[in-house]
Amino acid sequence: MKTKIFITGSSGFIGFHLCKNLLEKGFKVHGFDSMNNYYDVNLKKARYKILQKYKNFSFTKNKLENKNALEKAFNNFKPKVVIHLAAQAGVRYSIDKPRVYLKSNIIGTFNVIEASHKVKVKHLIMASSSSVYGANKNIPFKEIDKTEKQLSIYAATKKANESMAHSYSNIWKIPITMLRFFTVYGPWGRPDMALFKFTKGILANKKIDIYNNGKMYRDFTFIDDVVNGIKLLINKAPNNKQINRYNNDSLSPVAPFRILNIGNTKKVFLLDFIKQIEKELGKKAIKNYLPLQKGDVKQTLSNTNLLKKITNYNSKTNYKLGIKKFLKWYKDYYK
Ligand SMILES: NC(=O)c1ccc[n+]([C@@H]2O[C@H](COP(=O)([O-])OP(=O)(O)OC[C@H]3O[C@@H](n4cnc5c(N)ncnc54)[C@H](O)[C@@H]3O)[C@@H](O)[C@H]2O)c1
Repeated sequence: MKTKIFITGSSGFIGFHLCKNLLEKGFKVHGFDSMNNYYDVNLKKARYKILQKYKNFSFTKNKLENKNALEKAFNNFKPKVVIHLAAQAGVRYSIDKPRVYLKSNIIGTFNVIEASHKVKVKHLIMASSSSVYGANKNIPFKEIDKTEKQLSIYAATKKANESMAHSYSNIWKIPITMLRFFTVYGPWGRPDMALFKFTKGILANKKIDIYNNGKMYRDFTFIDDVVNGIKLLINKAPNNKQINRYNNDSLSPVAPFRILNIGNTKKVFLLDFIKQIEKELGKKAIKNYLPLQKGDVKQTLSNTNLLKKITNYNSKTNYKLGIKKFLKWYKDYYK
């Protein structure tokens, strides 16, 4: 029988793609999501509707903060692997609504770690973020680099998650992998993120906001590559032997715990990214140049050697192809 996998944030962008992929491969998946209205709930409902069609999918609609509901879902489903993706995401929103981040990302994540401990999961995989690197100047970012100076409360909650996870992994020997995602994009993507906002703005002949006057770059990672990376890790829980094998600080010296970057390892300048969207849409953007947003980082770039060593992971999709695939979905979905 295939592993039973509990996925939080199953109606979210990454969670939806991961669930769908695993369901198609025959895994039994239980999704957990509050379906909150941080962005268009209809998009979350549409994703959920697709997952609902699979016989091997079950679902709980509730908040992570509701410890009883979460533990009930864990006890009923009895997962072997937990993939924790639900979170209040977004750097910019965290300036206006910091408390939401504490509830979802700190209390919620703590509840997931505790519930995973209680049912003795074989592997807990959790979403962290490239934003924990803050304004680090050592490029590309490596897992062993210092991550002490987060620039937003969103990033601070993700860094806190890494520390909480390590402590529980140490005390209870829970095998935990923390994944630092680098700007994930693709079909069914998030309406609060750049690609979605630029596309919507350009098509509606509206100004698009370009921060730091466009002088930034990101390691844009296509959703299929992220899903593939997570899948490769499911049966590769960290253990003590690996500590010697990889001899790297991303692995804990005392606990079955590791941190891994998951990115495309290519820098794409924001203006090149926009140029490609314009080219694909056959339409020019009306650009509104603005200063750097509070809390934002100017650059991200991943080193994924560790993930490669463990899984042979290879990120395949360049941004031009990724944008093309996103736009195809966008036009179909929004007609
Ligand atoms: N997309 C990216 O570029 C990116 C980059 C770095 C890290 N991440 C992290 O990856 C994970 C998934 O991101 P995403 O882009 O799919 O975001 P998303 O917002 O599309 O998905 C998150 C899902 O979690 C649910 N959720 C939020 N708070 C909840 C709560 N308290 N209880 C229950 N459900 C809740 C939401 O309803 C949503 O469906 C998040 O942890 C995010 O911080 C994403």
